[in-house]
Amino acid sequence: MKPNLRQKFIIGNWKMHTTAAEAGQLAKAIVDGVGIEDRVSVAVCPPFPYLALVGKILPGSRVALGAQNLYPEKEGAFTGEVSPTMLLDLGCKHVILGHSERRHKLGETDAFINKKVRIAFAAGLEVIFCVGETLEQRQASQTEAVLDRQIVQGLAGVPADALPHLIIAYEPVWAIGSTGHHATPQQVQDAHALIRRRFGQMFGKELAQSLVILYGGSVKPDNAGSLLRCDGVDGALIGGASLKADQFIAIVEAGTSAWHTEEESASEPTHNPELEPKQS
Ligand code: 13P
Repeated sequence: MKPNLRQKFIIGNWKMHTTAAEAGQLAKAIVDGVGIEDRVSVAVCPPFPYLALVGKILPGSRVALGAQNLYPEKEGAFTGEVSPTMLLDLGCKHVILGHSERRHKLGETDAFINKKVRIAFAAGLEVIFCVGETLEQRQASQTEAVLDRQIVQGLAGVPADALPHLIIAYEPVWAIGSTGHHATPQQVQDAHALIRRRFGQMFGKELAQSLVILYGGSVKPDNAGSLLRCDGVDGALIGGASLKADQFIAIVEAGTSAWHTEEESASEPTHNPELEPKQS
């Protein structure tokens, strides 16, 4: 596959928002609004209690269902937890793992996230694996080291045949939500190149070229076009704007038009600068 013809994704992470009624309305509005054009894969990740409800609205549409978390055991005495089998039973295709809110607010370690990643793959789920540095880490020039650690430890022991089912989401913690900070297209592009290069060192260039890397952090209709046109950005993981159907649909449309242009200019085979050795 040509590096710039990777599958594109726009995925909504509803986090801990919506009531049952709101979740149903939002899902219906998204299904109606995104239509059937399927160049861009679309998914929504509602809270656990509404997966079944939303899962009944999506069939027949181009919108897939994802979960925001799982517990890394098949079943057992784990009060309050949700297993990969349960997610599959509810029709989930994707699961978000390693989100910074779980890393930093709920204390999830790289080792625990790694266990989740391996069990999710073993169950047959597609994993959206989130990585990203905090503001302090960026200011201390630790971005590369942090991303390196999260990738190496989070993906340790993942079998090669699972890797085509992996999506990485680069979500700099400092740009998520209403922090007032926004990542520039250049910062996003640089981080994505770094992630792809590191992944290539672990798993080989070919898999790195086909690896889908999303950006997440205050993606809105007005900045989606410029972020989604960046080299090596294959889509977006969206929080706040995924709770408003019109905004989410506008981002799907921004992605669709950004990638039309990319497809047209990708007819000539080229080398992939993202995978070139880093100049020191
Ligand atoms: P926002 O789009 O609200 O910044 O959230 C990004 C995110 O954390 C998606 O997982």
